[in-house]
Amino acid sequence: MRGELTVGLLGAGMIAAVHACAYRESPGVRLLAVADPVPGKAKRLADQYGAKVVPDLDELLELGVDVVDVCTPPTTHAAATIAALEAGRHVLCEKPITRTLDEARRVVAAARTAPGLLSIGQVARYAPDHRLAYDLAVSGEIGEVRLLSHSTTTSLPGWSEAGWLADPVASGGPLLDQAVHSFDYARRVIGSPAVRVHCMAADSGAGPATYTLTTVRYENGAIAHVECSWAHPASRGFKLRAEVVGTQGRLSWDYDHLTGGVLHPHEGDVEWWDVLGDREFTEELRAFFDAVRAGGPPPVPAEEGLASLRTALAALESARTGRTIDLTSWEAS
Ligand SMILES: NC(=O)c1ccc[n+]([C@@H]2O[C@H](COP(=O)([O-])OP(=O)(O)OC[C@H]3O[C@@H](n4cnc5c(N)ncnc54)[C@H](O)[C@@H]3O)[C@@H](O)[C@H]2O)c1
Repeated sequence: MRGELTVGLLGAGMIAAVHACAYRESPGVRLLAVADPVPGKAKRLADQYGAKVVPDLDELLELGVDVVDVCTPPTTHAAATIAALEAGRHVLCEKPITRTLDEARRVVAAARTAPGLLSIGQVARYAPDHRLAYDLAVSGEIGEVRLLSHSTTTSLPGWSEAGWLADPVASGGPLLDQAVHSFDYARRVIGSPAVRVHCMAADSGAGPATYTLTTVRYENGAIAHVECSWAHPASRGFKLRAEVVGTQGRLSWDYDHLTGGVLHPHEGDVEWWDVLGDREFTEELRAFFDAVRAGGPPPVPAEEGLASLRTALAALESARTGRTIDLTSWEAS
């Protein structure tokens, strides 16, 4: 496909604003319209980019956009993604692919028969440090990967519309909303499907199971340790630590020292920002638009989004029951 690609943005919240900004780094891509049910929200975002405001997905599709970018809460992903695919559009859907496994299976089925491309927003793959570590690991630089450790710790995100992130039923808590990035990255670097999951979680002021430690065994024998928390103090900012250990070496990086910035104002809260991390969305969207133009394959196929969701859901189930989940036979209830 040549020429301009037009995008309809579904949702005008936090991540929609990041995507809208990142489109500017993809030549030949234009944000055509934004839809959000909260009065005024779509207009605030659309006005910055000279885009139209429409009431909902049906109207986005009516406009004839080439791409629908689903930036809404996970409980809405399946219906929106399937409707856009069935209307013949390309879809980028934010992570997690859906809230439930059943929904994810329906999305996978829709993507297999749709003319358009579907890619899932597992953006950690595109962070510059994560990409470099992946490239080194798969090139054999550290031998065979045996252990991956990935830790993301922060406070309960405060921005979500009507507080959906704080509602474990809507968001699945940090395991589904945040650790799904770690599970996705670990499986990709280790290069083998997850087969066993064990998770322990502690409650905190941020909600139930908001401090979590998960171990994952992969089919090839490697293991991963994923720490994920929304129970850390807000003044500390978002922290990431990662380590990949192979038979011949070790890679490690962290956001305390490499990409974090901090502002200490005379009054008010300390503010943290992530410098390199901002580039990951630009890369993610560019890879998606390039894939659309090339006619595929999608950078993150729905099947991979489903696999990452399944590990996260199994971790939730393990935390709830105290059992180790055997993913070779597990069906989410
Ligand atoms: N990749 C990342 O690192 C990352 C970071 C943050 C959020 N996300 C994901 O992005 C998605 C959105 O999260 P957010 O933080 O932007 O949430 P948010 O609450 O800031 O924004 C979501 C927006 O969607 C709107 N919305 C709800 N239902 C809608 C519908 N049916 N049609 C149109 N708009 C609708 C809401 O009104 C809200 O404005 C989630 O899946 C989340 O997990 C990903």
